[in-house]
Amino acid sequence: MVGVSSSLHTRAASVQTVVQTPAASVAGLPVLRFPVSGKLHKQEPKLESEFVPAFSARIVSQKKRNVTAGVGARGRAIRIMSAASNPEQLKAAREDVKKLIAEKKCNPILIRLAWHDSGSYDKNIVEWPRRGGANGSIRFLPELGHGANAGLINAVKLLEPIKEKYPDITHADLYQLASATAIEEAGGPKIPMKYGRVDTRGPEECAVEGNLPDAGPPDPSDHLRKVFYRMGFSEKEIVALSGAHTLGRSRPERSGWGKKETKYTVGDNVGAPGGQSWTVQWLKFDNSYFKDIKAQSDEDLLVLPTDKILTEDSEFKKYTEKYAEDQDAFFKDYALAHAKLSELGSKWDPEGGFSIDEAPKNEPVPQKFMAAKYSSGDNSLSDSMKAKMRAEYLAVGGSPDKPLSSNYFLNIIIAVAVLAILASLGALSPLDVS
Ligand code: HEM
Repeated sequence: MVGVSSSLHTRAASVQTVVQTPAASVAGLPVLRFPVSGKLHKQEPKLESEFVPAFSARIVSQKKRNVTAGVGARGRAIRIMSAASNPEQLKAAREDVKKLIAEKKCNPILIRLAWHDSGSYDKNIVEWPRRGGANGSIRFLPELGHGANAGLINAVKLLEPIKEKYPDITHADLYQLASATAIEEAGGPKIPMKYGRVDTRGPEECAVEGNLPDAGPPDPSDHLRKVFYRMGFSEKEIVALSGAHTLGRSRPERSGWGKKETKYTVGDNVGAPGGQSWTVQWLKFDNSYFKDIKAQSDEDLLVLPTDKILTEDSEFKKYTEKYAEDQDAFFKDYALAHAKLSELGSKWDPEGGFSIDEAPKNEPVPQKFMAAKYSSGDNSLSDSMKAKMRAEYLAVGGSPDKPLSSNYFLNIIIAVAVLAILASLGALSPLDVS
């Protein structure tokens, strides 16, 4: 029998004394059992399984320094020295993540994994990793067993072969890389990502339970503000980030929310079937989430209490309306909010992180030459030199403070051309003495 796990996202009404088998939905993965007894929220999440993830005990050495070419935080090509992640391996891992997504259609759960790693962040705590955030601690059993993380073992397992193939990247970077890639591969905006997150090293560095949002709190707008303000987000960012629900589904056996299946979550091309999606095309990243939560006209589409409030609270509603109308505005705000989410609480090596994308190729704007622009402004030229330069400019009809008139060059070109024509006609030949 399939039941529900303890979860911050879980409806108390759905409590049953049963076990769930979240891993069953990903072919080939070992089955995990979360014993559930009596009341939700009270139990110690415990994994009882023959399966012990390799990462539960391994402490990855981060002493080695990766030295490769990368792109600095300001977009300039630089040599990266990072004890965290190797930029070349990150780029190669990104290609593997794309293949994984194409095969498994697992964009949504990869996004949820990264968000739940980040979403434990508390901006009021300075100390790392006690402040929570994007530090890879979700891979350890105590945190993976938090009620809100039910089902995320599947995402961790999906990424583990890629982590093994690229040992010189951190889990924290890999999870965020996979999430941003999942958004982009689903047709969403390019996320301006940074890398170089240092990993937490053991279960004792896991985040505390209870920092992720609950889908059905008594006062959803107050709850969303409390939880997301704690992470340092604004109302605009709360609404933009909620737009990630344009992808994916809710499964009653994981969170307690949603239908077992709908007409949109069965059939070919849906990855593991089941659950209830927020949108019809839930593997395509667009602004349909905002249109659908406004319309609330399809029984097969999910609207959680925390989604509904985005159409009711006046401050949230402003952005919901805007994003429903204007997909470009949603993409722009989402990309920035997602990048911010991906960096919450992270410790960076090198300081400030680095990019693995080429610097944006800004088309150089052609400018007229203006001598004053090239002056250092430190009065290093003597007055007599300045006077001499000024005189030379004035002699050719220009000024050091003004762009040279293009007519000046044009006149010279015309004069040279005339002389060349005359010379070819023999008019100016010094040998012509007749
Ligand atoms: C605003 C507060 C939020 C609440 C209350 C909430 C709640 C939930 C719940 C209950 C599920 C279903 C989980 C399951 O049964 O498997 C879910 C799934 C999901 N959430 Fe959220 N979420 C919130 C914010 C976010 C944010 C900020 C993101 C990402 C930026 C996100 C991304 C996702 C994705 C992609 C899924 C689908 C996972 C899948 O299909 O496996 N959520 N969320």
